Order: sequence, then structure tokens, then C-alpha cells
Amino acid sequence: MAADRDVFRAPKGVRDVLPPESDRWIEVVALFAERARRFGYGLVLTPMFEHWEVFARLGETTDVVTKEMYDFVDKGNRRLALRPDGTAGVVRAYVEHRPAAPWKVWYVAPNFRYERPQAGRYRQHYQLGAEVMGVDDPAVDVEMIDLLGGFFRELGLGKLSLVVNSMGDAESRDRYRAVLLSYWRDHAAELDDDLPRAELNPLRILDSKRPDLQDLVERAPQLPEHLTDEAGAHFEQVQAGLRAVGLDFEIDPRLVRGLDYYTSTVFEFRSAALSPGQDAIGGGGRYDKLAEEMGGPPTPAIGFGSGIERILIVADAGLAVVAGSRRCDVFVIDTLGTADATALLHELRETGTAADRAYGGRSLKKQWAAADKAGARYGVMLAPREMATGHVVVKDLDSGEQIEIRRDEIAAWLATKKETRAR
Ligand code: HAM
Repeated sequence: MAADRDVFRAPKGVRDVLPPESDRWIEVVALFAERARRFGYGLVLTPMFEHWEVFARLGETTDVVTKEMYDFVDKGNRRLALRPDGTAGVVRAYVEHRPAAPWKVWYVAPNFRYERPQAGRYRQHYQLGAEVMGVDDPAVDVEMIDLLGGFFRELGLGKLSLVVNSMGDAESRDRYRAVLLSYWRDHAAELDDDLPRAELNPLRILDSKRPDLQDLVERAPQLPEHLTDEAGAHFEQVQAGLRAVGLDFEIDPRLVRGLDYYTSTVFEFRSAALSPGQDAIGGGGRYDKLAEEMGGPPTPAIGFGSGIERILIVADAGLAVVAGSRRCDVFVIDTLGTADATALLHELRETGTAADRAYGGRSLKKQWAAADKAGARYGVMLAPREMATGHVVVKDLDSGEQIEIRRDEIAAWLATKKETRAR
């Protein structure tokens, strides 16, 4: 039980995002939304919780399912769980509504995983993601990677490494699983506690974080050597496409990703600014069997997710400045104490200017201080002498320059100062 003094604090592993930090979130989401629109994706909203079985499809050998799920029984005795990732709910929605393929969607949503919290790893994190259902063309794999890679580039995140691999088709994976399992069995003593996991899903050990296993993993048989001709050709075409759009990449034969649903192409963008072992800023891949596993028709599909918290950590590492928009262009300074200030603020806001004020009859000095604190570009002062001739005082808070402008022209004048709303 949390001590009394702790219950009114955010629980372990979750955090509040307050303004002005949240302005950067708006910036990141808006940029992604705009990019997704250009690529032909529509926004999808799925519930924060689903029947537990939907998320159980992430894999019976993944930590996300076995150890980290926030599941509960509701008052109607249903077993439900909070969403640990965006993909499972989107696939459930696809199977339920059967929209026409290709179905191209994006989302931004919080996900919940009971993990050991550390920098860049939280119990609630937000993902921006996209999924395409109903296309097996390698062109869509390239489009996905380009959508994400170009988004990071537009954010100015600097050098990230792109790692790709192919998990092959079912036949490739069956072949590989058998070879890999016999390799793990030959090294049962070293695997120790992890042997049962290897028996259930030999691939899972490949992304083990156990330092003492790294050597063994390094020497393990590699998946690309066991691809069928068809799976190999798909992977070749993905690589050719990545070269065509100018995306540098490396092939990492050990990249299998942490969720069980992956088939064929998998990819990850990594940043040196994140901690080793959790340096993925975003990643995804194909999951050509998941819709069928949820009772839908055979539906090839691919997607990715990228954590907003990690995006901002990488930005903060000095590689980029993701700045929020200026929330206040104009601060109204009121020396009259009448409804004139309220009317002016109304007019400014309705004509597209971000405007704010101090409340409660503060002194002139305090109002100017508040204007500075708000980061406003202009202060517009309502004072008796100027108002008597139909004017307001406008002060450029960057240069200190002060002019008078007619009260009935001020909104239009400020609206032309579009650059005041620059980031
Ligand atoms: P994931 O690799 O588990 O994939 O998560 C995607 C991204 O979410 C990670 O690269 C990371 O940026 C962020 N992330 C994950 N867990 C945390 C955490 N505990 N704290 C902070 N950030 C985190 C998926 O979730 C798949 N649904 C991606 C996908 C979509 N595959 C196909 N379609």
C-alpha cells in the first residue's frame, strides 16, 4: 500500500506533462498528423481497453503479455486489459468493421506496460503509429519506413541508425525455429532458466537482455540464411526500395523485435542518445497472420510505433530543438479596469491572434512582468489618455519600441504580423 503522503502523487513509472513542455507534444503530433495525411493515412481511434484476449495475441512468450499487462476484471465479470500497444486494437477494429483494403491508418495513444521504470521506459508511454492492412507489396514496407524516417528527419533529430531484417514467411520461420532450437538445446546449461522460453519460442532468446547470453546469441544461426526464395525476394525488394528513397540502413540478422506477431520485414530506428538495450526510438514490421488469428480473413499488414517520450529525449540530447509554438503573441495590459480589455481580447482571439492578460487588477508593473513571462511578442496597453483619442499603445517586447495604433485597427494590424506566430 502506498503511504498516505504518496497517494496524491503520480504512481511509479508514470508522469504528468505540463505546459510549456506539452507545447512540444502538440508540435510532434501535428507534424506526424500532417505527414501521415500526405502519405494517405486516416486517424483511427480505438479504445484504451479491450478484451484481454485481443492483447494476448501479442504473444504467449512476450514479457508484454506474461509480465506487463495491466489486466483486470470489470464489474460485469469481463477480463479486460489496458492497451499495451496500438497494433492489436487496430487489427481487432479491422476484423470487426472489415473496411476496404488497403486500410491505411495512424494513431496517437497512451500504452500501458508494467515495466521496470527508467529513463525512456515508463509504465504509461505515448506512441505515434501507423498501420496498413491488406497489402503485401514490398512497396508498402518501404513507404512505412519512409513515413517514419522522414518524420524523424523533419523533426531534425539528426543521425539515427535504421536497422532492418526479415523474419521470413511461415516456412522460413519453421525451418529456422527448428535449427535455432537445436542450437539452444546444445547450450541448455548456459541458457539455464531461459530454456523453457526457448522451447516455447526459440526466437525470443535472440533479443534477450541477459549480458551473459550475448556471446551465445552472437554465435547463433542466423535467420536470413533460412529464408525461402519468396521471402528472400520480398526482402530484396524492400532493400532496393529503401535505396531508391535514399534511406541508409543496416541488416541486423538478430533483429526479431519484442512482440510475437512479426512476420517478414522488421525494422527499428535507433539513437545513440537513448540507453543501450532500449535505444529504439521507433520500430515495427509486418504481421501477416494477426488478422486471421483474430478471426478475420487472411490479411497481410505492416506498421510501426514510436514513443513520444523517447523522441523528446533524443531531441533534448542536443541533436534538435523541438520547440513548441508561441502560445501568446500579444499580452493585453489594462489600466482602465473596464470591459474594454475583455472586448479587445475577444476580438484578437477571434481574428487569429494568440492573446492573453493578467487577471485581478494587477499593478502596471506586474502586468508588464506577466507579459514578459508569457513570452509575448507585443504588449497592447489600454490607457485613458490614448483611448480618449481612439488609440492603444503597442510595445514590441523584443526591441522595446513603442507606437500608437488606432483601437479599431489593432486586430487587423496584429493579424498581419504573421511572423509573430513563428516558432
Ligand atoms: P514496440 O517496439 O514495443 O512496438 O514499441 C514501439 C516504440 O514505443 C518503441 O520503439 C519505443 O519508442 C516506444 N516504447 C515502447 N515501450 C516503451 C516504454 N515502456 N516507455 C517508453 N517508450 C516505449 C510496438 O508497440 C508495436 N505495436 C509497433 C508496431 C506497429 N509494429 C507493427 N505495427
